[in-house]
Amino acid sequence: MGKITVLDHPLIKHKLTYIRDIKTGSKEFRELVSEVSMLMGYEVTRDLELEDIEIETPITKMMSPALAGKKLGIVPILRAGQGMVEGMLTLLPAAKVGHVGLYRDPETLQAVEYYCKMPQDINERKLIVVDPMLATGVSAIAAIDAIKKRGAKSIKFVCLVSVQEGLDALQKAHPDVDIYVASIDERLNEHAYIYPGLGDAGDRLYGTK
Ligand code: URA
Repeated sequence: MGKITVLDHPLIKHKLTYIRDIKTGSKEFRELVSEVSMLMGYEVTRDLELEDIEIETPITKMMSPALAGKKLGIVPILRAGQGMVEGMLTLLPAAKVGHVGLYRDPETLQAVEYYCKMPQDINERKLIVVDPMLATGVSAIAAIDAIKKRGAKSIKFVCLVSVQEGLDALQKAHPDVDIYVASIDERLNEHAYIYPGLGDAGDRLYGTK
């Protein structure tokens, strides 16, 4: 079963408070989401492999650790996931970025894929799928289905705000995926929004309604 890690560093908690606050406008919201994503990226990459390489300091030659694989990929779920990409790329500038877009069919309520463009060597990359919200889990599950179908082997999922119901669903559907969240909120409301949550993450990021 994939691990669930709550990243509750004081800086993440502090920034998340202002992300939630209705008084925070789009510009500041985007900046805060980016900053939190960078802080989360730091923890999510804690297990990256290192290899010793030979370098020369001004004093002597030495063997010193550097990232071994370096093959990473960031996959935002459109559209709100896009808000987490810049922060992650600040830490991981060599990562490639794939995109997956889904909409919910109003009749079947199933997630339908409308866009998926991945790096060619997706099967060799450690992928970090990002979406600020994990509510019912329907889109996260469908997004991960879509990228596995294209060959992804190593996937982590990172979101800001989750609820237990979505975590359970995602863990059940994709037991090989480790999940990182900044918060597990109380519950879903009657519109499947996270309560207390932060509202519609896409609308808050892009100033739409
Ligand atoms: N998506 C959002 O943007 N917000 C929620 O609360 C749930 C899903």
